Amino acid sequence: MEDELLPPTLQNVLDQKTLKWIFCGGKGGVGKTTTSCSLAIQLATCRESVLLISTDPAHNLSDAFGQKFSKDATKVNGFDNLYAMEIDPTSSMQEMIEQSDQNGGAMGGMMQDLAFAIPGVDEAMGFAEIMKHVKSMTYSVIVFDTAPTGHTLRFLSFPSVLEKALGKLSDLSGRFGPMLQQMSGMFGMGQQEDMFGRLEEMRGTITEVNAQFKDPELTTFICVCISEFLSLYETERLVQELSSYEIDTHNIVVNQLIFPKRGSNCEQCNVRHAMQQKYLREAHELYDGMFNIVQLPLLTEEVRGPEKLKAFSRMLVEPYVPPQ
Ligand SMILES: Nc1ncnc2c1ncn2[C@@H]1O[C@H](COP(=O)(O)OP(=O)(O)OP(=O)(O)O)[C@@H](O)[C@H]1O
Ligand SMILES: [Mg+2]
Repeated sequence: MEDELLPPTLQNVLDQKTLKWIFCGGKGGVGKTTTSCSLAIQLATCRESVLLISTDPAHNLSDAFGQKFSKDATKVNGFDNLYAMEIDPTSSMQEMIEQSDQNGGAMGGMMQDLAFAIPGVDEAMGFAEIMKHVKSMTYSVIVFDTAPTGHTLRFLSFPSVLEKALGKLSDLSGRFGPMLQQMSGMFGMGQQEDMFGRLEEMRGTITEVNAQFKDPELTTFICVCISEFLSLYETERLVQELSSYEIDTHNIVVNQLIFPKRGSNCEQCNVRHAMQQKYLREAHELYDGMFNIVQLPLLTEEVRGPEKLKAFSRMLVEPYVPPQ
């Protein structure tokens, strides 16, 4: 098969100025955070403003940049138009339950019921909350540093989760509604209405952004992996899953490649190098012609702090040349 080799860089992502949402995903520890930070840095050189979001509860944007981020977008030190935020998609439902509890209890109980009855509803609400917030902001492009594969595409099921939650809520309020109505004087009704309204609004938001995620003009997913059997296998699963959800993906970053100096007698390095090259060839056989495959070397030090990230990010656009 003669496959035209696509350039081994992420330049295509920088050139595609219509892109609004960029996801970086892959197995744990392969370099998602390093890649998403590096890509965001490169995007900041050619787009007006860039927001980097981590939805991984084990946040590491703060670690990568050596700067504390929070759920509010904060400018990244050393950049004029790069912002970052770290959010916990599950905390929002919890907050709502607590708020309701403070306001009289009955709604709190109902929300609790709802949260337990519909798996994922708290996460879906959290995600919707974030997207509502992000949509109202005016960044040119938003880069997501996602949690390890497995949870990566959960947000796509959120509209139906919220649909179920709405059904359940109407069920619950049918049963408890009259009782709540009676107590309304005491407990300030309207909360029930609020809850319906809120769920409905969130569902609307998620449905809308999910539609944007399926538009290749607006959205792309960058698969990050290392050159090992399990990681490549996982990548293929991810690629299949993305295609079944109609989410564009055409870039694979192969990170942590080792290139021993010629004649090196480090046996471990040589053996590992040979193995990585074997899987790299397989990746090319599978993906050439459809994907840009970007190779990144394993450095001898961690990629931490703005300066190291800046230097590392160059390799997303200028292919790394291994020592001869
Ligand atoms: N090419 C590389 N050379 C040297 N160190 C690297 C390289 N890529 C990543 N690292 C380091 O490896 C560690 C893990 O990388 P990173 O945090 O980007 O992975 P991750 O996929 O986001 O991990 P997690 O799944 O835990 O979120 C970090 O300390 C990072 O600095
Ligand atoms: Mg990470």
